[in-house]
Amino acid sequence: MRKKIVAGNWKMNMTFEEGQTLTSEILNMMKDEHSGDAIAVLNPPFPHIFPVKKLIGEAKGVFIGAQNCSDKEAGAFTGEVSAKILASFGVQYVIIGHSERREYFKESNEMLATKVKLALANGLIPIFCCGESLEIRTAGTHEPNVKFQLTEGLFDLSTEDFAKIVIAYEPIWAIGTGKTATSEEAQEMHAALRRHVASKYGKDIAENTSILYGGSCNPKNAQELFGKPDVDGGLIGGASLKSRDFVDIIKSF
Ligand code: PGA
Repeated sequence: MRKKIVAGNWKMNMTFEEGQTLTSEILNMMKDEHSGDAIAVLNPPFPHIFPVKKLIGEAKGVFIGAQNCSDKEAGAFTGEVSAKILASFGVQYVIIGHSERREYFKESNEMLATKVKLALANGLIPIFCCGESLEIRTAGTHEPNVKFQLTEGLFDLSTEDFAKIVIAYEPIWAIGTGKTATSEEAQEMHAALRRHVASKYGKDIAENTSILYGGSCNPKNAQELFGKPDVDGGLIGGASLKSRDFVDIIKSF
């Protein structure tokens, strides 16, 4: 059975105090209200990781992730954070290849494939992002586009390693825009991605791979999106900064 995952991507938001408050509120609401099997992954900016993890403690179904890791193992790379350092702080997940990293920081498929391998080598679970721009969607080449991102970023992995991957499909035109993909559009792409995984790693692995949807997911549309057979959760930006919204999204399963 594949895991149901709701991952919050705080991006470059939240001071120390705000992050502590948000985490405490999420933990309290989860404890009081959430009995389902969906898990939460909090992905704050790097300095929050240790204190947020301390707050999470032994809480059931709540995990800590990072938003990025370096494509270098260690050494003189000022400002970078390696997968090994993250693992040593108890980080469990890492978002790799978010469209903002691909676009603003020029991260190539080749670089992302290296990051994925380093994350796995250090015991982190990559949440590997893919998704098309509005231009590509309008041209109608979105499906081959995301399949290519998957092939380049992940298909060098052994079956054993691939089995640990979480995929996030995030159409760029839906990120932070308030314009969500319809549940049918999301389902269509998730099913295509799952077929693509099956063609490389077989049906069993594909059936067990969690594929999350990202892009203006909120408490109002989450239930409809998560109700689709190939949508296994969400990668949440804006709505993950509000405890009530984030927990309501988790409860949408
Ligand atoms: P959004 O961001 O929910 O604010 O659209 C999603 C993401 O970028 O992961």
